[in-house]
Amino acid sequence: MPQHGVILGVNIDHVATLRQARRGHEPDPVRAAHEAELGGADCITVHLREDRRHINDRDVDRLRVACNVRLNLEMAATDEMVEIARELRPHAVAIVPEGRDEVTTEGGLDVAGQRDRMAAVVAALSGRVGTVSAFIDADERHIAAAGACGFHACEVHTGPYAGAFHAAGGDFRNAELATTQTLVAQAGRLILESGMRFNAGHGLNYHNVRPIAALPGLSELHIGHSIVSRAVYTGLRAAVSEMRAQIDQASGRR
Ligand code: PXP
Repeated sequence: MPQHGVILGVNIDHVATLRQARRGHEPDPVRAAHEAELGGADCITVHLREDRRHINDRDVDRLRVACNVRLNLEMAATDEMVEIARELRPHAVAIVPEGRDEVTTEGGLDVAGQRDRMAAVVAALSGRVGTVSAFIDADERHIAAAGACGFHACEVHTGPYAGAFHAAGGDFRNAELATTQTLVAQAGRLILESGMRFNAGHGLNYHNVRPIAALPGLSELHIGHSIVSRAVYTGLRAAVSEMRAQIDQASGRR
């Protein structure tokens, strides 16, 4: 089926987190990927962390073969990860900052402060993987730097928006919430004007996704925690399908 709406990338790291709680064999991320595909995922996203705390090397190898949709590999800009991505050749790579002690990705990548390194990473990946995106805060300095480094896309960190949405109970009369959403929208415009694709993700859930999905020119949303959490009650296929319906309705493009 041709894709013509906002692409939904389902992050299945937490399926592997659950497996690692017993250091066992289930649940299997490959089976989760198939369920997500059947629920309407256009892309499977996994973060291969330096410490392999959830997704491991065998998972990404198996997913690369078994996925029927695009595979998006989130990774730090290290030599080890660049080598793995060059061998794996996923459809997309998202460069993210990585801290050993963080529970999840905490902030955007400092592209402006590491231009040479980022440009070298993009050059090493170009031609070996489909698209390379930078996970950044909604900050024009990093957008300009990402364009200069040759990134094909920027994924805007929606964590601050998600936090403000929760604090305000979803009331857009709240200045903090309105501001955080405007910042994502402005970043999106600038990314598109700079000739890159506009993606977004982090902290998005069934309550807060619509105002982001409705932003003009948005290409992709990458969502994990809320979908896997809902799957505990509904199953993954239904959880993805519900998110898919919300995104499609809000974006009006499917
Ligand atoms: N995008 C990026 C770059 C991420 O690092 C993550 C978390 O792994 C997500 C999206 C998904 O965030 P969440 O799990 O909060 O939906």
